[in-house]
Amino acid sequence: MLSNWKFDHIGVAVPEIEGTAAVYKAAGYTQTEPVYDPIQNVHICFLSKEGMPKVELLAPHDSTSPVQQTLDKMGVTPYHTCYEVENIEAAVAELRKMRYIVVRKPEPAIAFDNRRVCFLYNKQVGLIEIVEQ
Ligand code: NI
Repeated sequence: MLSNWKFDHIGVAVPEIEGTAAVYKAAGYTQTEPVYDPIQNVHICFLSKEGMPKVELLAPHDSTSPVQQTLDKMGVTPYHTCYEVENIEAAVAELRKMRYIVVRKPEPAIAFDNRRVCFLYNKQVGLIEIVEQ
């Protein structure tokens, strides 16, 4: 982990957005309009509520979506944690030294207004996403 990164959200794999979003909305969360992310081939929305960690729902577009395998094995489940970093290249370089493997290279993400995101995996930490400021 990096000492200067900031927690951004928990990503949760779901078979479809609306059923799970309704549960959060009933608890006072605000939902963003779902967007299609062609890179991950998923539909994404965010749920937020004052004082609570932001939640991202990721639903597969079809069976080729990377979250489909997770859903097949686990059902609805937390899938990644995401942290905001100042400089994505510097963060990736530092994380690689700490035995994180790059799962997906930094790419602009539609769900983040084209800010770049990168996915990495570490055996002790699991799957993480970093998003540049
Ligand atoms: Ni995410």
